[in-house]
Amino acid sequence: MSFFENNTILISILSIVFLGSISSWGLSLEPDKITRQLIESRIKSSHTICVKGEACAKNAYIPPQADREPMAAAAIYKKYCTACHENGAFKAVKINDKAVWKKRLDEAKNGYKGLLEIVITGIGLMPPKGLCTDCSDEELEATIRYMVEFDPAAAK
Ligand code: HEC
Repeated sequence: MSFFENNTILISILSIVFLGSISSWGLSLEPDKITRQLIESRIKSSHTICVKGEACAKNAYIPPQADREPMAAAAIYKKYCTACHENGAFKAVKINDKAVWKKRLDEAKNGYKGLLEIVITGIGLMPPKGLCTDCSDEELEATIRYMVEFDPAAAK
């Protein structure tokens, strides 16, 4: 057998193997078998999101803030924030450090709203919401104002 003939046989065998595998790929990708349902079941998230008011959110945990009367800023400060802000524990801004509060307010993007965002997420050694986990945004913002604009004479 000449060298040329030998190679022809080899090429023929390779072609058969190659064509065979192409047709079997073809089979596994047969479009009729890939239904929309199958695709959706494969890309589906393992979580679902329920929005308040929807039937699926019926048993969802709702923070207790709805269950109590709104608290006054001074009361929230006394109950939650005083631990750090009264005497500057953990290097917190002291309640009557007017100059530092003013600087913080000036530096915050968007004024009080900016400070509110920082307090909600927490910063440095201050835990989220300054530990008042059931405080509403409005209550927190009022408390921040109370602290920034603190007037010792009015507090007595
Ligand atoms: C466990 C201590 C702690 C408690 C409780 C706490 N804070 Fe703070 N707070 C800090 C510290 C520390 C900082 C300074 C963080 C920094 O600048 O790294 C701070 C900073 C702030 C700032 C300035 C944020 C800024 O970036 O300028 C505001 C506003 C604030 N606290 C509001 C509150 C309010 C309102 C409460 C109560 C609801 C509260 N904090 C409770 C420790 C505390």
